[in-house]
Amino acid sequence: MNSSILLFGSTGQLGQEIEQKLELMGKNFLALNRDRCNFTQPDCIQDAVMTYKPHIIINCAAYTAVDKAESEKNIANTVNGKALKILAKEAEKINAFIVHISTDYVFDGSKNIPYLESDRVNPINSYGRSKLMGEQELKEYCNRFLILRTSWVYGIYGKGNFVKTMLRLGTERKEIRVVADQIGSPTWTGDLGNIITQMPPSLTGTYHYSNSGVASWYDLAVAIFEEAKSLNFPLKIEKVIPITTAEYPTAAKRPAYSVLSCRKISSTLNIIPPHWRESLRKMLQQLREN
Ligand SMILES: NC(=O)c1ccc[n+]([C@@H]2O[C@H](COP(=O)([O-])OP(=O)(O)OC[C@H]3O[C@@H](n4cnc5c(N)ncnc54)[C@H](OP(=O)(O)O)[C@@H]3O)[C@@H](O)[C@H]2O)c1
Repeated sequence: MNSSILLFGSTGQLGQEIEQKLELMGKNFLALNRDRCNFTQPDCIQDAVMTYKPHIIINCAAYTAVDKAESEKNIANTVNGKALKILAKEAEKINAFIVHISTDYVFDGSKNIPYLESDRVNPINSYGRSKLMGEQELKEYCNRFLILRTSWVYGIYGKGNFVKTMLRLGTERKEIRVVADQIGSPTWTGDLGNIITQMPPSLTGTYHYSNSGVASWYDLAVAIFEEAKSLNFPLKIEKVIPITTAEYPTAAKRPAYSVLSCRKISSTLNIIPPHWRESLRKMLQQLREN
């Protein structure tokens, strides 16, 4: 059976990647952007689910402006939290399966070994709290869901991400200062999109998925410039200077360590997520070709 899929957040970096993969796979799907379904309007969510009556809902819509969320808590909570309650209730009525994307920022970063799905959540910023609210609403109001937590996402689509920002700054400046004391796992939407679109519906509950390996933002910046130079991107950058979080104050606090353990999904699906550096190179090659 070719299950029908309803995709929310189709203009985001992950949403666009997934839409393209579904198209290539010949899937029966409807992709909705914010104009067609705004998560601040509960009626829109109800109408979308009840009109299309999908077997599977993939939710890539989210309020993702981590710093801005500190001054826009209400809207972050509405889009990332309350909307999930409406979505879960509607999905439950038609027995649809929800695939929802969550974040490493549900953790406080006090660990120094990879976070397990069973570890205590304790977000330290408004964005993380709003995403945790979304997880809780799903667990409370529907039975058939998959929460996939991921981290440090980048890809060729969407409005922007760390990789694209570094490439822009690298063409404008000779020197750049990048935070070296926050550790995570960069994750390419290409790999994440493959997992989401090829996932067996038997996978339910909470799982972590990121690329393998760990990096600081500084490590990632250095790797971006090394790989980009080898692909002949026109760059001016000569030096990347490591700095501390304290030297780069932001509105939202970020966890110092938010590496996700992917052991559970790896053993369940018998996969090994590609190393982040390998995937970074693939993403940069894609950007170069476009
Ligand atoms: N980016 C990361 O580093 C990261 C890390 C961990 C987890 N995640 C999670 O991964 C998922 C995908 O993130 P992403 O990186 O693809 O984010 P993104 O590029 O910012 O895309 C977010 C999507 O949500 C839509 N959206 C925002 N407000 C909305 C609203 N009120 N109603 C309906 N749609 C709305 C956006 O629409 P517009 O295009 O109109 O703005 C866009 O399509 C999210 O759940 C995010 O929390 C991301």
